[in-house]
This record gives sequence, structure tokens and C-alpha cells, in this order.
Amino acid sequence: MIVVSLSNDLGLGAKISKSLGIKHLTAHVKVFPDGEVYVRLPEPQSLKNEVVYVVQSLYPNQNDKIVELLLSIDALNEVGAKEVRTIIPYMAYSRQDRTFLDGEAISIRLLLNTLYNLGVNGIITIDIHSKKAMSYFKGKMFNILPTKLFADKLKSLGIDKSNAIVVAPDEGARERASKLSNELNLEYVVIKKFRDRVTGEIRHELPRELNVKGMNAIIIDDIISTGGTVANIGKYLRSKGVNKVIVVAAHGLFVGNALERLRSSGIDKIFLVLTVPKIDDPLLEYLDPTGLIVEAITKE
Ligand code: R5P
Repeated sequence: MIVVSLSNDLGLGAKISKSLGIKHLTAHVKVFPDGEVYVRLPEPQSLKNEVVYVVQSLYPNQNDKIVELLLSIDALNEVGAKEVRTIIPYMAYSRQDRTFLDGEAISIRLLLNTLYNLGVNGIITIDIHSKKAMSYFKGKMFNILPTKLFADKLKSLGIDKSNAIVVAPDEGARERASKLSNELNLEYVVIKKFRDRVTGEIRHELPRELNVKGMNAIIIDDIISTGGTVANIGKYLRSKGVNKVIVVAAHGLFVGNALERLRSSGIDKIFLVLTVPKIDDPLLEYLDPTGLIVEAITKE
């Protein structure tokens, strides 16, 4: 078994191979002046007849990172690797897991079919957006849920039943919230979302009977992109008298002014998994998924 890192492996390739005691190689990647991507595998002879794990997160610059991944798989086929598996901490395009409007593509289906058709027979990823997205891969996909990582962190902060509640921003996050609340032995609640058809404005509402005054809220979601979802809910919870608002999310993209928006919405801390490059900011803390990835590999 060999681990091959591409340009966006987040330093995970070296840690995974060290922990498994196996060889680690880093592909040579460059972008030509016209924008085309180039990949060359080091020590091609050593990859022949091997099971190879390619590590690549697909954010930022999703499209370039995907092309890089595809080129590396083609190169591995070319040198005669026995099996190609991928470790993709952040799976881009997973939110387009169905057609929402006529005429759209199902982007994640295309991506996963392409990987499978190229010969990838296994994917390890972290908190993919939905079960639907996962269902398109015809090989074996292991979706790591970071529930335990988050729970251990929160326990270390002294979160307990008397003072906290887990909040899912929408129905899509219900399962995440339910699993986290189980780990922490807390209640969870799913926020209702209303969109004003005329103004387009989004409004959030807690179930009527729930009193959250003086409690700490733990919002859980899979992705923070523009920060809009979490910031709106953070503000709303504060308006209901919540004490501290802590957010846990696997993937922190923080597009545009997301961080400013989150800070001004009264969010106290955001815990993320290292699935995309780190941003150095006091609001953020990253949890290392190496152990969970190694566990997934050894289970395969
Ligand atoms: C939506 O279905 C996802 O689970 C996230 O809630 C969403 O992608 C967050 O996006 P943003 O940060 O832009 O509100």
C-alpha cells in the first residue's frame, strides 16, 4: 500500500502513511501558463502492482483540483497500479445531488461516475452532504462522520445536559444533530426555515414550546460557505436569550466576508475538521481527522 499526495492534501498524506507505516509519495503538479494542469508521479516503478491511496481535498479551486485528481488516476493506471482508492476530505459538488430545476446536471453523480469509470474502486470522504450524493458511487464509499471528534471537544469544554442544546439549522442536518446529541446526552432541535415568497427573506423559528434562555447552543452543519445559514441562526438564537453559540461543521469554506458576518452575528466559536486549508483566525479551531481516516483504511 502506498499513499500519494496531490497538491491539496492538507498535510494529511504524510500523517496517514506515517501512522500506517507505509510509503508516502508526493506527485509533481504544475499549472501551465495557459491554465492547463500537469501531474507527474514520482518513482513510477514503485507504484506498479500496488494499492494506492490518492489524497486530495477538492476545495478551493474545485475544478482544477478535480482535473488534477483525474490526471493522477490516469497516470496510476498507466504505471500499472493494482488498485486506486481516493481519500477526499472535502467532496466538492455534493450539494448538487439532484435536479432542483429542469435542465440542471446532477454534478456529484457525474463526478463520482467519472472516478469509478476511471477505475477508482474506493473513496474515503468526510461528512459528504447527503446520503443521496453518496448513493451515486458504484464502488465502496466510506463516509467518515466527525461526530466523535466534535463530541470529545465539546465535552472538554464542560458542555452538559443542564446547560446546552444541539441545534440543526434545517431538516438536512437532523441526523447530524441527533447523532451529536446522543454522544453528548443532550436534547436536539431542528429549526424551521421560512422563505418570504415576495421579498425572498429567510426567517428561522424554534418550536414554540422550547425555552432556550440562558442555555448554550451548539449549531451543527456540514458546510459553512457564505456563513449565511449559521449567522442567521446564531442571531436568532441570541435574540431568544441564548448564552453562548458554538458551531461545529466539517467543512469551513468561508467564502467572501463570511468570517466577518459570523463574528458580527454573535457566534463565540467554530470548530471545524481539517478538510480544506486552514484559516488562521481566533474564531476558528480545526480538529485533525487523521485518526479517523486511518481507522477507515484499516477497516476496508
Ligand atoms: C445546505 O444544505 C448545507 O447543508 C449548508 O447549510 C449550506 O451549504 C451552508 O451555506 P451558507 O454558509 O452559504 O449558508
